[in-house]
Amino acid sequence: MTEILLPDDFVLGVATSAYQVEGAAHEDGKGASIWDVFTRTPGKTIGDVPGDAGVDHYHRLTEDIGHMRRLGVDSYRFSLSWPRLLPNGTGTPNQAGIDFYDRLIDQTLAAGIRPHVTLYHWDLPHALQERGGWPNRDVIGWFEDYARLAFDRFGDRVTQWTTLNEPIALWMGYGMGVFAPGEADPVRGKQAMHNAMVAHGRAVQAYRESGCRGDIGIVVDVWRRHPATGSRADRDLALAEEDDSFRFFFDELFGGGWSARLQQRLDATGLTPMVEDGDFATARAPLDFIGLNVYSRIVVRATDPRTPWWTSENADRLPGGNYLSGGREFYPAALSDALAVLRDEYGVTTPVYITENGVSGPDETPGVDGRVHDADRITYLSGFLAEAEAAARRGLGVKGFYAWSLLDNYEWAAAYTEKFGLLHVDLETMQRTWKDSADWYARVCHERRFAFDHPEILGPTSGLPIGRM
Ligand code: BGC
Repeated sequence: MTEILLPDDFVLGVATSAYQVEGAAHEDGKGASIWDVFTRTPGKTIGDVPGDAGVDHYHRLTEDIGHMRRLGVDSYRFSLSWPRLLPNGTGTPNQAGIDFYDRLIDQTLAAGIRPHVTLYHWDLPHALQERGGWPNRDVIGWFEDYARLAFDRFGDRVTQWTTLNEPIALWMGYGMGVFAPGEADPVRGKQAMHNAMVAHGRAVQAYRESGCRGDIGIVVDVWRRHPATGSRADRDLALAEEDDSFRFFFDELFGGGWSARLQQRLDATGLTPMVEDGDFATARAPLDFIGLNVYSRIVVRATDPRTPWWTSENADRLPGGNYLSGGREFYPAALSDALAVLRDEYGVTTPVYITENGVSGPDETPGVDGRVHDADRITYLSGFLAEAEAAARRGLGVKGFYAWSLLDNYEWAAAYTEKFGLLHVDLETMQRTWKDSADWYARVCHERRFAFDHPEILGPTSGLPIGRM
């Protein structure tokens, strides 16, 4: 058994997002978001279950912060609902929305927990969608104004900001139609992705001008693709999928524009977004940290139809891989592989937070003992946390780790069918129950040490064509 020790300044946190947990979708002056509309559209979510109620975090704020205090986390990563603050997306702020986030921030700080605030976790005001949404270049100004409002109202107390969470969600929402707002138009999808990079850069500039003192960054999810075989077709597919997902953003954030390889493919497919002078310079605004959401890798095989990548399930199993009882692959090396992209490809040495990691379980209803025994989640989190600690020790700039998620919550198009929480939530009563993983995480937070039994599966595997576990 190996004991992992976490340095005192290594940040341990939990993460949520506004639409997934808050509920109160139509209360206290909040405007509709694109997710409010999408999840009420038949055929868009599993079972046609809308997310209006979230898991009632809006009304259970004090209780939920109490849980976090008991867990002993250093930081709470949550997002602001843009339409709760600006019901029409622009214009007059909603005072009740500002009051809610004031309470959330003040109570979090009073519990000794540092707020890490995300400006955008996918819930665009519906009013702005009606004006064209993210593919409309005007979004750059809308987002900048919204960011300025947030810095102005909360920047005196919030010292860690993320502009966007996982901008690839824009491709799923505008390019594929599987997320809100449900448009399946690749041209508009790529345009939304580029506009978001410029909007991000403008928000960073606005933060620098605001006089607030703190750190600002962005969160990108990195799912490295591993070709199932050594064939040329599999390797090309792996590269293309990586380019289309995280490298599209990293090229803009760190490279000053897309690589010749990506640009060529965008041109060949007629998907090159409209770019104005200065866009790439804006998108490249220096950052204080990078957030990486790391869940696993994806095995790709050009000849086989496979499970779409956003389900985080590999249709292909590689010999020697580790799989949880629920079928998910357990591949902590994904974390080091993601770091390697930043370091080795882009030469980026900016501090990194692992802003999300976790795993969804099958049916996790409390048993007769009233408990949820989620041993797989403990294995999963301990593997990735061990990997994060090892990377920190190797000097790779990893400053912290946020478990996704504090609570079972509304998992987007999967509605409530995927449970990622450390705490179980009864959807009838909204009662919270600690799972075994919550007890485990609390011990880690308090003792800053934990055991991980499989050190042999840690470490970078970047460049390896197939799994080696
Ligand atoms: C998102 C979360 C989501 C989680 C689990 C991430 O892609 O940021 O909102 O719940 O993954 O699927």
